[in-house]
Amino acid sequence: MTTVEAVRLVGPGVDRVDGPLKVTGSAPYPADFGFPEMAHAVLVRATVPAGRIRAIETAAAEAAPGVLAVITHRNASHLVRGPDTPVWRQPPLPLQDDRILFYGQYVAVVAAETEQQATAAARLIEIGYEQTEPLLELDDPRAEIVTNPWGTDSHRGDVTAGLASADVTVDATYSTPDETNNPMGLFATVASWDGDSLTVHDSTQWPHGVREALAAIFAVPESGVRVLAPFVGGGFGGALRVWPHVILTVLAARTTKRPVKLVLTRPEMFTGVGHRTRTAQHVRLGADRRGRLIALSHEGKNSIAMEDDNYEPVAADSVWAYACPNADVRDVQARLNIPYPTSMRAPGQAQGNFALESALDELAYALHMDPLELRLRNHADDHPQLGLPFSSKALRACYEQGAERFGWQDRAPRPHSMHDGNWLVGYGMAGVSFFWFQPPCKARASIRADGTAYVRSSATDIGTGTYTVMTQLVAELLGLRLDQVRLGLGDTDMPAGGVEGGSGLTAALGTAVWAACRGVIRECLDRVANDPASPLRGCGLDDVTAADGRIQCACDASRGEAYSDILARQGLDELTADGDSAPPEPKDVGMAPAGAFAARFVEVRVDPDLGLVRVARVVSAIDGGRILNEKTATSQVTGGTVGGIGMALLEETVTDPGNGRITNANFGDYLVPVNADIPDLDVFFVGEPDRFNPIGVKGVGEVGLVGMAAAIANAVFHATGKRIRSLPITADQLL
Ligand code: MOS
Repeated sequence: MTTVEAVRLVGPGVDRVDGPLKVTGSAPYPADFGFPEMAHAVLVRATVPAGRIRAIETAAAEAAPGVLAVITHRNASHLVRGPDTPVWRQPPLPLQDDRILFYGQYVAVVAAETEQQATAAARLIEIGYEQTEPLLELDDPRAEIVTNPWGTDSHRGDVTAGLASADVTVDATYSTPDETNNPMGLFATVASWDGDSLTVHDSTQWPHGVREALAAIFAVPESGVRVLAPFVGGGFGGALRVWPHVILTVLAARTTKRPVKLVLTRPEMFTGVGHRTRTAQHVRLGADRRGRLIALSHEGKNSIAMEDDNYEPVAADSVWAYACPNADVRDVQARLNIPYPTSMRAPGQAQGNFALESALDELAYALHMDPLELRLRNHADDHPQLGLPFSSKALRACYEQGAERFGWQDRAPRPHSMHDGNWLVGYGMAGVSFFWFQPPCKARASIRADGTAYVRSSATDIGTGTYTVMTQLVAELLGLRLDQVRLGLGDTDMPAGGVEGGSGLTAALGTAVWAACRGVIRECLDRVANDPASPLRGCGLDDVTAADGRIQCACDASRGEAYSDILARQGLDELTADGDSAPPEPKDVGMAPAGAFAARFVEVRVDPDLGLVRVARVVSAIDGGRILNEKTATSQVTGGTVGGIGMALLEETVTDPGNGRITNANFGDYLVPVNADIPDLDVFFVGEPDRFNPIGVKGVGEVGLVGMAAAIANAVFHATGKRIRSLPITADQLL
C-alpha cells in the first residue's frame, strides 16, 4: 500500500479532470439548476446602519404583477438559530425582528414568477427607519470589546523582561483594511420543498454544514435535507457560513410552496457573504545584537459584527512562528455595525503575517542584518509552544532555495540604493508558517465489475482541483488509470465530507479516500481468502500492491488478479468500503501537525515621481508536504499570490463613515489585480511528505496568499526608504 515513505514528493501535472466540463460550460454551478414551476426571489436591504424599522409598506409590492410572496419581519416564521461549530459560527437569522444591525441587512424578500417581476416589486416596498448612531470605527470608544472568547491568546516566558533586556527593539503599529472575498461566481441558492423534505443547490464550501444548519433552522429531520454543490464558482471563505440569503430562499420556497431560486447581485456579495475584517496591530520585538529574538509581542484588534460570533484572531499564530523564549500574542475584537464577516483566504494570517513580517524587516534594518539571515537565525526547529517536532518543516529549504532562485545575494543592503533608469528597485522577502487544520471527513469507494472505481464524498471542489487530485489518488491507490476512476463530490446523499476550507480538505478527504480504497482492497482480499482459484488466497492488506487494474503480491507481481476477475468469480456487481479521517492528537503521535511553510521573494519597481509600485518578480518556495499534482498546486499558489498582490497594493472595501454604506461594492471601484498587474510568478515546491497523515499532504490553498503583503511592503521600503505600515500601499503614501 502507498505510504508516505514510498511516494514521490511532487506528483505529475495532470490536467484537471473537470476541465473539459468547465470550458464547454457544462459543469453545473448552483445558479444553473432549476425545478419545474420555479419562482424567483429578490432581496431588499436596509439603507441605514443601525436602528429600527418604523414602518414598512408592502401593499404595492404584493399587488405587483407576478408576485407570490413578500416576506418581512412582520410575517416571517420564527426560525431557530442553527448549530455552531468551533470554527464556523452561523450568523444571526434574518427577518426575526425590526432591528437594523448594519447597512445592507436584509429587510424583505420578494418571490415572483420571474426575477424581473421580483426585482420590480422589491422596488415598491417603502420603509421608514428610526435611525440610531452606528458604531463603525475600530477605535470607537463606545464599541464593546470582545476579548479572547476562544482562548487563542497565548504566551510563554516574560515579554516585558525580555524587551527590557534586548539590545535592539522594534515597536510599531500596522493596519489592514476591510477586504471582500469576491469569487467570480455570484452565490446562488435554489430550494425545493416536498413535504418536510428539502432539496437545496447552494454555493457552499460545506454541503453537510448547510444541511445540518437548515435542518435545525427549519426544524425538519436532517435525513430529509439534501444539499448539492458539485461545482462552486470560487469561495475564498465566502461560502463557509450558512448566510441569511440561503435561509431566506428556503423560507420563500416554503411560503410560496414553490421551488425558489435566488442569485445574489455583485453589490449584495459585498454585504451578504462576509469579508476579511480590518485590523490594527501592535508588534514589539526585542533581539540581541546577533539578531536572536528575545521577546515577541503581537496584539491584534479587528472587528466583529453585532450579535455575531465570527472570531478571527490575527496575532495568534505569531506565537509559534519563530524560536523566541518570551512571546505574548493577544487578539481583541471591536463590535461594530458592519456586515457579518467571514474567513477570507488565510484567515487571520493574511493580516497577522503582514504585521509580523514587516516588523521583522524593521528589526533587520535596526540590526544592520540581512532580513533573510535574521529569519534563519530565529528559525523554530520545533514547535515553540507545544515543544514537539513538526510533522514536517522545510522552511529552511524554502529560504535557502528561494533566495538562490531569486538571486537575493544581488541585493544591495542599503535602502534606496538600487535603480534601473528612473525606477527605484527594491528586494523584499517574508517567511510564512501557515497553521494546520483538518476537518473530519468521510468517503466511500466502490470497485465495479468492469474494473472501474467510483469514489464519493459530500465535500465540494470550489475550483481548487479536488476532483483532479482525488481522482489521481484513487488511481494510484487502486492501481487504475485516471479514466477508470469516477469521482462524486458535493452531494449530501454521499458520506459526510469536511469543509473545503482552512487548507484542510486535501489531507482530510485524501485520508478518507485512502482509507476507503484500502477498505476496497481488504474487501477483495476477504472474498478470495479461502478461494483456491485465487492467487491472492491468504494475502493480507500489507502483502499486496495495486497496479494495472489488479491486486498483486508485493513480493511477486506476477501473482495476482484483476478486480474484474475477482468480482466476476464472486458474482458481484461491486464491492464497497467506507473511509474516515480523524486526525490524531499531537501528543499521542509526538508531533506538532504542520501546515504549509513558505518563503516569498519579491522585486518591486517604484516610480518616485508618480508613487507607482509595480511588482516585477516573485519567487515563492513552498513546503506543502507531498504535492499530489504539481499543476493544480502551482495554480493554487499562483492564485493566492495574485490575491496577496491585491491585498498589498489594491484591495480595500470602503465604508462611508457617516452611514455605513459600502461605497465601492462593484468590480469597477473595488480594485483587484488584472493581468497587467501580475508578472510571471515563479512557484516551486520543496520538502518531504508530511508525517501527520498517511498520504503525506499539506494544504496549499491559502499559503500562497500569505507573506505577499509583507514581502511587497518590505521591498517598497528597500526601494524607497519609506516604511508603509498601512495597506493597501497607494501612491499617496509614497509621494
Ligand atoms: Mo478558506 S478562508 O478557509 O475558504
